[in-house]
Amino acid sequence: MRIPYTQTVSIDLAERSYDIHIGSGLMEGEGLFEGLPKATSVLIVSNETVAPLYAKQLQAALGKKYPKVLTLALPDGEVYKTWQTLNLIFDSLLQNGCDRKTLMVALGGGVVGDMTGYAAASFMRGVPFVQVPTTLLSQVDSSVGGKTGINHPLGKNMVGAFYQPLRVICDLDTLKTLPDRELSAGLAEVIKYGPIADLQFMDWLEHNMDRLLARDVDALAHAVKRSCEIKAWVVAQDEREGGLRAILNFGHTFGHAIEAGMGYGAWLHGEAVGCGMVMAAKLSQRLGLVDAAFVERLQALTVRAGLPVVGPVLDAGDNAGRYLELMRLDKKSDAGEIKFVLIDGSSKAVVRGAPDALVREVIDACCTA
Ligand code: NAD
Ligand code: GLY
Repeated sequence: MRIPYTQTVSIDLAERSYDIHIGSGLMEGEGLFEGLPKATSVLIVSNETVAPLYAKQLQAALGKKYPKVLTLALPDGEVYKTWQTLNLIFDSLLQNGCDRKTLMVALGGGVVGDMTGYAAASFMRGVPFVQVPTTLLSQVDSSVGGKTGINHPLGKNMVGAFYQPLRVICDLDTLKTLPDRELSAGLAEVIKYGPIADLQFMDWLEHNMDRLLARDVDALAHAVKRSCEIKAWVVAQDEREGGLRAILNFGHTFGHAIEAGMGYGAWLHGEAVGCGMVMAAKLSQRLGLVDAAFVERLQALTVRAGLPVVGPVLDAGDNAGRYLELMRLDKKSDAGEIKFVLIDGSSKAVVRGAPDALVREVIDACCTA
């Protein structure tokens, strides 16, 4: 048996603190679930793509500690991040006689993680849950920090709860089966940590992008660890997004408009965020916060990660107007004013409004049919 190696990042949230384990061969290793509460049943929630790849392995590991381990495979895709799919989780919990001590385990990407977390937050008013993220995006972002939820036809992630997992287990080996497009989407959320918090990490990404695209496990381990450290540092200070945590949404204001405007699933979340970061950097430049060289640098890194940097046209008539309309639905909007996460040039993010005319200029400059 290969000896697994692990690095741990801790997230400090008083009684809700937990560890993020990052390593290779974790699902084969012993002791993965040591220290977790006793339960008579465990429900692994996965989807029809990931379950055939990893559920058996995880079920075997959990079976060493828990008497009854069940797996539910949901339909795969952002379009299924809905109330109806959430109900399938509750159906399974109730049909299988699960109780308040049942441990839920999310095995999959951000869609599975967000839905399982929300189900765990609400089933019997809250049951313990563990995240086993299997996409790069979910390992560096969505599995950490306790944001859970589902989409509403009128807006993304509009229904949900803050609910922290007991543990996060990032097995880098799962990334070997991830499609290239999904790897690139995950790199968008990795890149975002540079401009908002750590320009040295941005340098490192520039020097190591080829290794990441080649799925070099040491490079992936560093990228996941540094991303989780930055996210843990932010979330520990502002768990419920009273202020600081909003910086983690760099690129997301434009990105969410792209996702919603194109129809969920047409652009991957990470693709929309990648393009959205470039648009937000260009807005920062127009506001005099960063220079053209920084925008060029970010755009070049985003392109190297295999991400789009040209925004889609959402409305052939008034494209910028459509973006603005969708961005006003963003959760950061305040009394109808859109709040953007912008970069001030020294790896510091600021959250502020911008004149519509400037935003329109950026959208016009960034979008083509
Ligand atoms: P995803 O969950 O849809 O996964 C992407 C695709 O990869 C899916 O088809 C999935 O089945 C497949 N897949 C997953 N792991 C695989 C593996 N190891 N091998 C092969 N295929 C695999 O998408 P995602 O990018 O992981 O997550 C996006 C979601 O995360 C969005 O809904 C977004 O809103 C959410 N999100 C949440 C937070 C948060 O803080 N909660 C943060 C960022 C994003
Ligand atoms: N992904 C943004 C956040 O967790 O706040």
